[in-house]
Amino acid sequence: EEDRRRQLLKVLDMAAKLYHHLLLQHEHGEEARRYLLQRGLTMETIREFQLGYAPDSYQFLLPFMRRRGFDETLLVEAGLAAEKETAAGRNRVYDRFRGRVMFPIHDTQGNVVGFGGRILGDGRPKYLNSPETSLFHKGRHLFNLHRARKSMRKEQQALLFEGYMDVIAAWQAGIRSGIASLGTSLTEEQARVIRRNAETAVICYDSDAAGQTAAERGLDVLKDQGCIVKVAQMPAGLDPDDYIRKYGADAFRGDVIAQALPYTAFKLEALKKGINLQDEPQRMKYLTKALDVIADLPLAIERDHYLRRLSEEFHVSLDALKQEQRVIASKKK
Ligand code: UTP
Ligand code: MN
Ligand code: MN
Ligand code: MN
Ligand code: MN
Repeated sequence: EEDRRRQLLKVLDMAAKLYHHLLLQHEHGEEARRYLLQRGLTMETIREFQLGYAPDSYQFLLPFMRRRGFDETLLVEAGLAAEKETAAGRNRVYDRFRGRVMFPIHDTQGNVVGFGGRILGDGRPKYLNSPETSLFHKGRHLFNLHRARKSMRKEQQALLFEGYMDVIAAWQAGIRSGIASLGTSLTEEQARVIRRNAETAVICYDSDAAGQTAAERGLDVLKDQGCIVKVAQMPAGLDPDDYIRKYGADAFRGDVIAQALPYTAFKLEALKKGINLQDEPQRMKYLTKALDVIADLPLAIERDHYLRRLSEEFHVSLDALKQEQRVIASKKK
């Protein structure tokens, strides 16, 4: 058992090194190298993240590893190779990652446990990730956690991104507390890990509809684990990587991270989606929903703060809001 685990770690580490070597040194890796540089990454960043390139071949990694004494089963177990039954009923084993830029994913000890692989240019899937293996669990690991942990602890703040490139662009710009979940929505387990390392979590997802929906979900998952949660807002159509490249790191820090909306403010904004506030009945419906959110807040001072804001925003008396809220609160019991 322990031996198998060591072998899996070894083969994953060797694969990361080989892919990295190809990206840096080899003519096969030239297109990928150009792709990353054109996306604004420096060679230093490429080295730091040990980014790599998997050649566009079904039989590249497998024979390489076979020659070094690793059998096919081990490569399948590591998620590096896949297996398919042919029409003749024979099993064919082949390289899982082909023609992709490789992003190694580490566990907290810094061992490579899986990969994300991005296609060069367009094509589907855009990112192919390692399958679940005995070492790699999408719902457990967070991309870049082993590097970001120190800074997360020091600043007591985690920046949660959607994508690998967002984390890397932020890192290159000197923002070192960035992590990302691995192409799935944030799990309770990941939120617990975040809380163990930082008091506050700032969700910095893409500013498209998918990102905002994911933010609404992630918000509660993090809150339930005891995090102070904020949600960063970015101009439409940009993700953090785009934003940093367009406006720079200082703007990202000052205008995006520092201006992130606290949990309740974000919730109250999100409730406005699809509601026409010019329409009286819809406006009342919004107010009722907003009062419901406020009634759930544990602190009286926080409830008071948001009731005042509502009162100002909608020109209704604070007394009326408080009265209505008492009704809502008593129904909840
Ligand atoms: P995005 O589509 O926002 O990609 O998905 P991105 O990170 O901005 O990618 P670039 O900038 O075009 O290279 C966010 C994340 O969702 C996961 C990946 O982890 C990705 O980084 N994802 C996305 C997948 O796992 N598979 C996909 O096909 C697409
Ligand atoms: Mn699992
Ligand atoms: Mn996205
Ligand atoms: Mn994105
Ligand atoms: Mn992107």
